Amino acid sequence: MPSFTPDSELELLFSPHVIPAEVKAQLGSDLHMRPLSRTDISRSHLSVLRVLTSTPDLTERQYAQAFDTMRSCPNTYYTLVVISRETDAIVGVGSVFLEQKFTRNLGRVGHIEDIAVDKSMQGRKLGLRIIQALTGISERVGCYKTILNCSDDNIPFYQKCGFEKKENEMARYH
Ligand code: ACO
Repeated sequence: MPSFTPDSELELLFSPHVIPAEVKAQLGSDLHMRPLSRTDISRSHLSVLRVLTSTPDLTERQYAQAFDTMRSCPNTYYTLVVISRETDAIVGVGSVFLEQKFTRNLGRVGHIEDIAVDKSMQGRKLGLRIIQALTGISERVGCYKTILNCSDDNIPFYQKCGFEKKENEMARYH
């Protein structure tokens, strides 16, 4: 079984210090929350995303290229993962990306995307901790609001995370 890889040995998407310490402290001692790393394809990242939506396999190279694209836009993409210290595998993921606006006195908005918790770990408050960490990052970097889209089934989960229903989503698929 692979041993736990400390943050210091990884290429990370953003500084781990941005993740609120008080949220990390509330995870079980068997778990660790950190920014996405360039090699997380080997730690079940895509398998965890499959509980959310269609996520075809990628090569390590394709994965690293997508990571590099995100990292080349500083202060924009914040994807974090929850890792099992026992298996070094990802058991939960989530992202917030920051949108710069001209309105609201050059305000910024945090968009939460792609929240997924491995089936075996659901119901342990990991989803809640991921949302708390992402909204904490969004607030800390100065966003005036954090928003997300979800299915009706997930509305009660997001209400428990402190969100309220506002307006409607429109979509056009290509
Ligand atoms: N309906 C009602 N309540 C819920 C639901 C739900 N679907 N999911 C969680 N809750 C409640 C829990 O019971 C808990 O309540 P409590 O505080 O009273 O005990 C609270 O919400 C927190 O739940 P967590 O244990 O943190 O939830 P979990 O770790 O299982 O994560 C998640 C929730 C992320 C929805 C998970 O079930 C999952 O990965 N689902 C599949 C993928 C998915 O739907 N992701 C969200 C897509 S939307 C987006 O990405 C923006």
